[in-house]
Amino acid sequence: MSIIDKHAIIERNGTLLLVGSLLVVSIGGIVEIAPLFYLENTIEKVEGMRPYSPLELAGRNIYIREGCYVCHSQMIRPFRDEVERYGHYSLAAESMYDHPFQWGSKRTGPDLARVGGRYSNEWHVQHLVEPRDVVPESIMPSYSYLLTTPLSVTDVQADMKALSLVGVPYTDEQLENAGADLAAQADPEADVDAVVARYPKAKVGDFDGDPTKLTEMDALVAYLQMLGTLVDFSTYDDASGYR
Ligand code: HEC
Repeated sequence: MSIIDKHAIIERNGTLLLVGSLLVVSIGGIVEIAPLFYLENTIEKVEGMRPYSPLELAGRNIYIREGCYVCHSQMIRPFRDEVERYGHYSLAAESMYDHPFQWGSKRTGPDLARVGGRYSNEWHVQHLVEPRDVVPESIMPSYSYLLTTPLSVTDVQADMKALSLVGVPYTDEQLENAGADLAAQADPEADVDAVVARYPKAKVGDFDGDPTKLTEMDALVAYLQMLGTLVDFSTYDDASGYR
């Protein structure tokens, strides 16, 4: 009996074919899934990543509340056109403290994963107040009310505690100083050394152009200005050799 004839037996018997298929699929499944039980972490550790500062976190919450993610992704894919336009492709570790993450493939506007530092604070404020003032053909909506809405500071500590429960490693010291750090990061008069010590590379100072008020605009711009700035890609050892 040739191998083809033997195989014909399986093909002609529905039950045998089903059992055989299940067997093959299970082997494939186990090969893929089993190693995950022996790994402590599936995300490669990358130097520079830290949890969001209270002000950045508040800004991120506004970003989500306003639905910015409906038009913007935060995920640079490892394709030449994306890397040339936006910078180094996104690493898994860069969104390890994001709950929920802001990946996506729907891009009405550009990807924002590395927008931090690309424009000045003034540019962001002007752009969010009236996008067409700086980009005449823009279809992005105006968010001018952020400039006049005071930032609610009451729940940032609770928010950080909730994030700790899902694995974001906020320290007791960071939790205790949440409210003070939030105000200090956007206050040009404040002593910000402690904030930067707790949140390395945090951008500090007045963000919205009005140093006397802490607004939602301060928080959102602080968040935009840190996006993609934590990992130093000039020293990052890229094992893939892609770039
Ligand atoms: C209806 C879709 C839409 C929404 C919602 C939207 N944007 Fe945009 N955004 C765009 C488009 C289109 C552009 C490109 C034109 C421009 O620069 O205005 C853009 C550009 C930007 C840029 C400049 C990016 C770059 O690299 O030049 C930033 C920053 C930005 N948006 C932030 C935001 C934030 C923050 C929100 C939420 C408060 C938001 N966008 C909501 C469509 C949108």
